[in-house]
Amino acid sequence: MLDGKYGNAVKKSMAILCALGEIYGADKLIPVGSVQVAGVSYDNLGDAGLDYLTDLAKDGKVKVMTTLNPAGMDLLEWKKLGISDEFAKKQLAVVDAFRAMGIVASCTCTPYLIGNLPRFGEHIAWSESSAVAFANSVIGARTNREGGPSALASALTGRTPNYGMHLDANRQAKITVNIKAKLLGQEDFGALGYVLGNKIKDAIPLIKGVKFAGIEELKSFSASIATYGGTALFHMKGITPNRTKTPKESMAVTQEDIDSAKKALNDDCDPDFVSLGCPHATLGEVERISELLSGKKVKVEVWIAVSRPIKQLADSMGFTKKIEDSGAKLASDTCMVVSPLKGRFKCLATNSAKAIYYARGKQKFKVRLGSVEQCIDAALTGKWA
Ligand code: F3S
Repeated sequence: MLDGKYGNAVKKSMAILCALGEIYGADKLIPVGSVQVAGVSYDNLGDAGLDYLTDLAKDGKVKVMTTLNPAGMDLLEWKKLGISDEFAKKQLAVVDAFRAMGIVASCTCTPYLIGNLPRFGEHIAWSESSAVAFANSVIGARTNREGGPSALASALTGRTPNYGMHLDANRQAKITVNIKAKLLGQEDFGALGYVLGNKIKDAIPLIKGVKFAGIEELKSFSASIATYGGTALFHMKGITPNRTKTPKESMAVTQEDIDSAKKALNDDCDPDFVSLGCPHATLGEVERISELLSGKKVKVEVWIAVSRPIKQLADSMGFTKKIEDSGAKLASDTCMVVSPLKGRFKCLATNSAKAIYYARGKQKFKVRLGSVEQCIDAALTGKWA
């Protein structure tokens, strides 16, 4: 592959993987079962990224099931989200280049909800940080936190260097975290990710004392801990399937820690934009939101970000109609972070701690973190209660 026998895209890809393997001391390359490629939004890629992808697409074809992260817009209904024609043209060219390589244009950060579901112990190469943490921790698959180019290189060769999270020795917890707080919704699990990220940075935690965590809470926590701390793996006793020794070092997370995290993740503002679905919403979340909005009218811009298959199911169940009749929008293939929204809004309300981080940093919005009910209430009144 490195000699160019299988074409230019494979040669370039293998050069990236060999360089990574040498830097991290990998003993060999291993086959991967699937790939998730991030770096899809034209807002992040620009023309240089588009040129790189167009070049690879000349002779590159993926060797394994490969799915895509969200793009900068809804690929079909981008006009309703206020995206310009110029941006749309470039974004569609990006997605066309990925499709030409045989990549499924799924455009979601929750590939595990729509058919790219690895099995326990499977080696994969994923590059969406929330999905990486989910795959390693909730499913027990094995992936490093790949960059967009290295994940794409794995897709085009079917291989990844054997280091980091692929090795048992590196998957052991380093600190025990005892939860002494009530964790109720996604916003609380997001706040927990913020607390841990700040306190233990990228150390792998063994978390004890969580009473309940469903898919929504786990996806939210995976996104938050990866954003604020950088770990690609956590162990949650009784909930995730990972095996680890119990570390001697320990710490507690109290109710006060969660409450002050939520305070730190709120500014003083009334939302002019409400965005839910970070990571992309499940069908259950969409149903709940549709019930909260049914028969009412929103006063501000509202996006509920979902993958297209979830949108199609929501359409068929009548959830989309209830949501869109209220004036809110179901946004497929995209999200408020990767969309070109800088300057369009002043204050975002969301139930996602990860969205808060990027809303402040990338989009320069003020923020409100709360429950789904609080966010919908703000959408209906234009006030944060
Ligand atoms: Fe997904 Fe966008 Fe959040 S990619 S994890 S919805 S920032």
